[in-house]
Order: sequence, then structure tokens, then C-alpha cells
Amino acid sequence: MTTVLTPELTAHWDEPDSFTLAGYRRAGGYRALPRALAMNPDDIIAMVKESGLRGRGGAGFPTGMKWGFIPQGDGKPHYLVINADESEPGTCKDIPTMLANPHALIEGAVIASFAIRAQRAFIYVRGEVLHVIRRLHHAVAEAYEAGYLGKNILGSGFDLDIVVHAGAGAYECGEETALLDSLEGHRGQPRLKPPFPAVAGLYACPTVVNNVESIASVPYIVGRGSAAFAAMGTEKSKGFGIFSLSGHVTTPGQYEAPLGVTLRELLSLAGGIRAGHQLKFWTPGGSSTPIFTAEHLDVPLDFESVGAAGSMLGTRALQVFDETTCVVRATLRWMEFYRHESCGKCTPCREGTFWTVQVLRDLEAGRGTEADLDKLLDICDNILGRAFCPFGDGAVSPVMSSIKHFRDEYVEHVKRGGCPVDPAASALFAAEVGGAR
Ligand SMILES: Cc1cc2nc3c(=O)[nH]c(=O)nc-3n(C[C@H](O)[C@H](O)[C@H](O)COP(=O)(O)O)c2cc1C
Ligand code: SF4
Repeated sequence: MTTVLTPELTAHWDEPDSFTLAGYRRAGGYRALPRALAMNPDDIIAMVKESGLRGRGGAGFPTGMKWGFIPQGDGKPHYLVINADESEPGTCKDIPTMLANPHALIEGAVIASFAIRAQRAFIYVRGEVLHVIRRLHHAVAEAYEAGYLGKNILGSGFDLDIVVHAGAGAYECGEETALLDSLEGHRGQPRLKPPFPAVAGLYACPTVVNNVESIASVPYIVGRGSAAFAAMGTEKSKGFGIFSLSGHVTTPGQYEAPLGVTLRELLSLAGGIRAGHQLKFWTPGGSSTPIFTAEHLDVPLDFESVGAAGSMLGTRALQVFDETTCVVRATLRWMEFYRHESCGKCTPCREGTFWTVQVLRDLEAGRGTEADLDKLLDICDNILGRAFCPFGDGAVSPVMSSIKHFRDEYVEHVKRGGCPVDPAASALFAAEVGGAR
């Protein structure tokens, strides 16, 4: 049994009152806050820089550096916006964090707001997760009552209000500028960058947008010191992170470990692939990250190593599929998601995701041709690097990577006139989808 786990954010999730103020305090919570409020805000930014914390929302941008971009002395209001939209297929770490440990997020939000000199913070939470929204409202109310929010926090002279805002359920609203437009009451579509949110974000004022897990990690850094955080992980990917194992594993769940842990190690903690089956393919960071296969079991799950192996660390959403899964069917399901969620602002993504689904449907239903593989890659080529926002690049990942690793399985669909993995399901599907495109 390996000992790679480092439960910090998840350490008390199994306690019945972990989400309450009393439970969080008992676990050592709100001890970093007075320390932070006694510091110079710039020193907090320096501390977060030294810790090496990189954004946990997917892109891995250094958090301290992002905070440092906020202009000071500009006379404008500054805002902290916490991205709690979590909608990527497979990604499921922020929702349990907010359910079980919302006060870590609030404590982190107060520290981050103090550091960037913001007096108002927003938590933009995915609208479908009503139970999480209720927990957040409850936790924010508790924090106000205890003097951790509101006027003159802990006698420091610092004021902060937190607004919990529920979105209406659109994946694209997780993209930071679409989120800001949505928060302002507009349709959730991305903005042209530059200007970046640090210069002109919410209401055209300097804004930091950070992921839930990024902000919830801040109390640990301030409380235990940047060196303690930086001691975990790899050279350029520091600290701990939540790895979400889902799919065909014996014990799916959230495994908090230093960055650089491997899927092989995590599987050993999760009881392996479900009994009697073998690993076929997996995503290292959600459906927008190119799939891996069994040959990647020992790739260290840090930003650099996953990138060097041809994918992205993303949100550490490890969706695991065994040999009973048809890769064409799985890719089709992912693409149906992207087609549905495309915001429609730009043509390559709006049209490309639609046509990709049409071609994949034909292939899965046994009505495709080998030329369809080239057509798929051609459509992807017209999306990749040509779409308005990173959604487009993410959307083509499942198609391009599945053809790269499993071209033979695609071809087999054409030769057999149906799915070689599950012919009965494929026949049923062909009957359901009806005529060809
Ligand atoms: C289509 C799309 C969806 C996204 N969804 C999320 C999300 O749900 N949560 C999140 O934190 N970041 C999401 N991001 C990334 C954000 O744009 C942004 O990089 C992130 O919130 C920054 O926070 P971080 O630096 O703490 O990671 C998404 C990006 C794209 C392109
Ligand atoms: S790539 Fe274009 S259509 Fe797709 S979500 Fe982004 S802006 Fe919208």
C-alpha cells in the first residue's frame, strides 16, 4: 500500500459537521485568517507566489502571479470572483469541497480579498447544485455572524462582503470571461482578451478569477507557510490536489495527493480496475484533455509530465474506462455534450461540434466509412486554434486522441457495420438514431 495521500482539504469530510463553523474551527480552521490580516497584503501575495500554487481550475496559471497583476492605488474597486461553476464531464472536486468544507473556501476568500485589496467577493456557483448553494449560503451567514465577514473583520479594519451567485447551468459560464458577463447579467459568452480580467474584469474593474480549490488551498499556505506547501509535489507543480477517480474503478472517489502522483498509485489505493476487467483508456483531467491508455499509467500527474506525454492535467478528473467501453460511443457522448454546450458565438465551434456528432453517430450506428475518419480530423483541424475561446480546443480532444490511440476500433466499426465492443447496444443505437445524416 502506498502512502501517497496528503489529506488537507479533504481531511475532515467524513465528520458529520465538517461543513459547519464549529466543525471547521475544531479542525483548525480560521487560524490562518488573523495571521493574514496582521500581514502586509503584498507579503501575502509574495507568500502565495513562493508556495508555487498554480490554479486548480484547469489552466494551472500561478495564483500569486495572478494576484500580483491587480493594479494598486488605481482608485477603482477590486473584485475576487470564485469560479464554482464546475461542469466539465468527470470533474467533481469543487462541489464536494463546498459541500463538506465551505469554510475553507470562505477563509481563503477573505485572505485573497485582503491581499488584492478587494472589498467584495463573488462565488459563482453552478445553478443545478441546489444543495451546494444552500450550504454556501449557510456557511456565509455563519461567517458573518462570527465576524469573519462584514465590517472590520476581527478588528482589523478590513471589510469584505461575499455574494453567492447561482448561474443558470451552462458549461461555458465556467470560462472566466463568460462567467463575468453572466455575473453582470448578460448572456454567458466569452470576451475578447486582452484586456484580461486583472485590468478590466467585473464591471470593467480589476478582478481576480480563481477556482474553488485554488482559493481553499490558501489558508493552508498562510497557516503552515509556503515552504510546507512547496515541499509537496514536483519541481514546477507544487502542493497537493484533489484527484477525482470515477468510472470502472473498485472504489471511486476523491483522493487528495501531491501533484506528481501516478494513476497506478491512485488505482492501488482505489482497489484497482473493477474485478475481472482491464484498463482501456482514461482522461487525466476531464473530457477536454486528450485520453490516455494503459501505457500512461506511470506518467506523473503534474502539469509538465502530463503535457509532455500528450495531454493536460486539467482538473485531475480521472475518468477510467475498462475494455467493455466502446471508445467511439464514449467519444460520441462527450461530443454530444460539447455540441449542446457550445455557446454559438463562433462558427468553428458551433458548426464543428454539430457535424462531429453527426459523423460519430453514423460511425457508431455502423453507417460510417473510412473517409469519415479523415472528415472528423478535418473538422477538428478547423476548430483547433481557430475557435474564439479554449472551449473549442477542449472539444476536439476526445475525437483527436481517440482516433490517435484507437483508429483500429473506429475502422472495425466501419468493417463490421456496427460496434465490435457491444454489437447489441450499437444495433439498438442504430434503430434509435434512425436515418443517416
Ligand atoms: C469552457 C471552459 C469551462 C471552464 N470551467 C471552469 C470551471 O467550472 N471552474 C474553474 O475554476 N475554471 C473553469 N475554467 C477555467 C477558467 O476560465 C479559469 O482559467 C479559472 O477559473 C481560473 O482559476 P484558477 O487560476 O484558480 O485555476 C473553464 C474554462 C473553459 C474554457
Ligand atoms: S469556442 Fe466559440 S462557440 Fe465555442 S464556446 Fe467558445 S466562443 Fe462559444
